[in-house]
Amino acid sequence: SKVLVINGPNLNLLGTREPHIYGATTLADVESGLVAQGGELGLEVLCFQSNHEGAIVERIHQTRSEGVKFALINPGAYTHTSVAIRDAFNGVALPFVEVHISNVHKREPFRHHSYLSDIAEAVMAGFGTMGYNLALQFIASKLR
Ligand code: DQA
Repeated sequence: SKVLVINGPNLNLLGTREPHIYGATTLADVESGLVAQGGELGLEVLCFQSNHEGAIVERIHQTRSEGVKFALINPGAYTHTSVAIRDAFNGVALPFVEVHISNVHKREPFRHHSYLSDIAEAVMAGFGTMGYNLALQFIASKLR
């Protein structure tokens, strides 16, 4: 099965951005790790990163013609602002896991609300980049 991994704004800076919060692992490391883990789990992992809300919306729409069965998304700051990304997931009925590297609940109050959590299959926060790997393992079990 195909799984789409989406990383939102500023996650291209992973490894150099606020390393005390987000760690030293780069996005390329995260993505290559997920592709390898997917291979072991029998999943084809597709990766996408964008700093643009509309590009993320269109990438979600595109899954309709690709046979993507599940998504894993770290929406970055769009977590806390984007009705459009929420509507895109509902619009194509694509199940997804929401992942945050940091524990958003112990940070600023504006990070406590997510426009996605109540329609997500599951939510990870505070596991560092390992959260992506734990989420992919969960997705594999759901698709089995
Ligand atoms: C984040 C948390 C968000 O609040 C923040 O805007 C990010 C990253 C995380 O992975 O912890 O860009 O989603």
